[in-house]
Parts: sequence; C-alpha cells; structure tokens
Amino acid sequence: MLEWHCMKNVKYTAFTGKPVEIDENSLIMAIESSCDETACSIVKGGREVIANVVASQIKTHEKYGGVFPEIAAREHLEAINVVIDETYKQANLTSNDITAYAATVGPGLVGCLLVGLNAAKTLALVHDKPFIGVNHLNAHLCANYIDTNLKPPFLALLVSGGHTQIIDVKSYSEQIIIGETIDDAVGEAYDKVARLIGLPYPGGPKLDKMAQEGNPKAFVLPQAKVDGYNFSFSGLKTAMLRLVKSFEGKELPTADLCASFQECVSTVLYKKLKIALENSGYKQVVLAGGVAANSEIRKKVFSLKDEGYDVFAPPMRYCTDNAAMVASCAYLNTNTFNTIDAEVFSRVK
Ligand code: KG4
Ligand code: ZN
Repeated sequence: MLEWHCMKNVKYTAFTGKPVEIDENSLIMAIESSCDETACSIVKGGREVIANVVASQIKTHEKYGGVFPEIAAREHLEAINVVIDETYKQANLTSNDITAYAATVGPGLVGCLLVGLNAAKTLALVHDKPFIGVNHLNAHLCANYIDTNLKPPFLALLVSGGHTQIIDVKSYSEQIIIGETIDDAVGEAYDKVARLIGLPYPGGPKLDKMAQEGNPKAFVLPQAKVDGYNFSFSGLKTAMLRLVKSFEGKELPTADLCASFQECVSTVLYKKLKIALENSGYKQVVLAGGVAANSEIRKKVFSLKDEGYDVFAPPMRYCTDNAAMVASCAYLNTNTFNTIDAEVFSRVK
C-alpha cells in the first residue's frame, strides 16, 4: 500500500497563467529524451506509474559503437509522437485527464533534449496546463520513490553515464553533493573499458554480463585513493589499457578482465559509500542512475542490509533512462524549472 506524501503546491498554466493545484491525485505526463531513449510516462502523485513507454535507439547506435548525437536527435523526432500516443493509449486517458506536462531540460545532448522539451511545452500550451522542467539527475534519484514509501532524508549513490556522486538528500527538494568523481564517471569508465576489450555498444551492460563468467580476483587493479568522498576512475582505465596491451598477440582473457574491473569499481564505490553512510548517521541508502542496473554494484550496496540499513534501488526498467522518473521528480521535487521559456542545458551549471 503506497502512502501518499502530500506535496500540495500551485503551478500556473502555460498559456493563460491560471493557477492549478498539484496534489496526490495529479496525473503528470513526462517526456525524457536526453540521450538515446525516447520515453513518455504518466505518473499519479509521484509514485504510481499509470503508463510507461520507452523507445530505445540501441539498434541505430550499435553500428557506430556509441551514441551519435545528430542521429539520436533525428530519431527522437521520428519517435516522439508515436511514443506520446502510445502512452495515452496504455493509460486509457486523454489530455483532459492530465494535470501538468513535464520534460527533462538537462543535463544531456542538447539536440535530443530540445525534442522532448518542445513536445512537452507544446502540449502544455495547446491544452493550457502547467509545464514542469526537470533535471535529469534529480529524476534518476526520484526513480527510487516509484512504488515505494521512501522518504528523505537518506544518502544516495548516483552512478550514471555522466556522473558519479554521493548525495545527502535532506528533503525532496534539497540535495547536497558530498562527493563526486574528479575525472571519469562510472558509466563512462564502463563504456570506455568495454570498447577497449572489444565488447559492442552498449558497453556497460555487456561488460557486466561478461564479468559474471570471469574470476574477479584474476587481476589486481588500482583503487585510486582520493580525498573525502570523491572518486577517480581514470587511473583504473589506464591500468586496463596497459593490461589489454600486455596480451597483444595472445587471446584476451575477456571474462577475467571484466570480472576484475567490475570487482575493483564496485569495491571502491562500496567502501566510500559505507564511510559516508556511517558519518551521516542516516539509516537509509539509495542507489540511482543507469549503472544502478549493475549486478555487482547492486549486490554490494544491498549487502548493507545486513548492517541494519534500509537499501533502495529502482527496478531495472527505472534505472536506465525512462520518463516515469521524470514525472515522479516533477511532482515530488519542487525544485524544478517551471516557466515556459525554460531552456535546455548540456552540463550541470
Ligand atoms: O544513467 P544513464 O542513463 O546515463 C546518464 O544519464 O548519464 O545510464 C547510462 C549508463 C551507460 O554508461 C551504460 O553503459 C551504463 O549506464 N549501464 C551499466 C549497466 N547498465 C547500464 N553499466 C554497468 N553495468 C550495467 N548493468
Ligand atoms: Zn540517465
């Protein structure tokens, strides 16, 4: 049974500026298009998913070994109307039922973000409903509120393609980053190492799968010592490059390389998170971001249950990019971009 957290607040319609009360019965339609997934979702009261549609571009980008921004933007354009229609159909609802429209405004690929943002703004203007712009990283965190009764405060480990952060989530709208990577993000390191080893795009999940067949103790890799709750993964990436080169002319022990890399990354993340958690005094810990789908990182973070912590991580479908997390964020995190002239941004300002 979901507990409703009353987040009553007033937002204003995009065309005539009429006040609209947003409450636990509000249905928010959100669009996500920051990278290579065109997604749309309708969520009630920030926690109950009514419809969730994701169109993935994996097939398109596979042949380039990574996301090609201009092609990604064009694919979003082709998919967006179909994905929105499918969402209404899945929910058996029409625009009359929607309280507000939301979209990711950044960080992400600008050309891609523009497609989702303009679609949500147009819907808000045409139907005269409020528009809510959402930060993609906040949305990843909010994936943990879907179908749960999780309430702040808690500590979060956010691991994505572009970010690696330990966040002190003091309230739904107040978050303090207490540690982050000083170079590569975890997802980025996964993708680069996967390419180095010769695994196809998308590298992260492929490396994770391969690691499960290897010996995590096969190679000892460097765990960077960085101040405070910060991380560094570029040294590990270089160590992997050297290791791979040392096998030139011989067969690459792919599974062992993957397992050893995964062991090193997950251990570093776990150790820092645990220290941060002990110092915070919080009893709840949350895993978020695309890399929260990683089997070993999940296993290590969930082992904190044995130490008396409540551990949360979204189910797989809400770890990687989706619009349900954006709709949840639009409702629960009031720290949003609510004007119709909100602009896209590629990086955190
Ligand atoms: O959070 P996300 O959508 O990226 C950003 O918002 O920046 O997640 C995408 C990242 C990619 O780097 C992808 O390789 C990684 O998450 N990823 C994984 C796994 N599934 C996705 N990395 C390791 N293991 C996985 N199972
Ligand atoms: Zn993401």
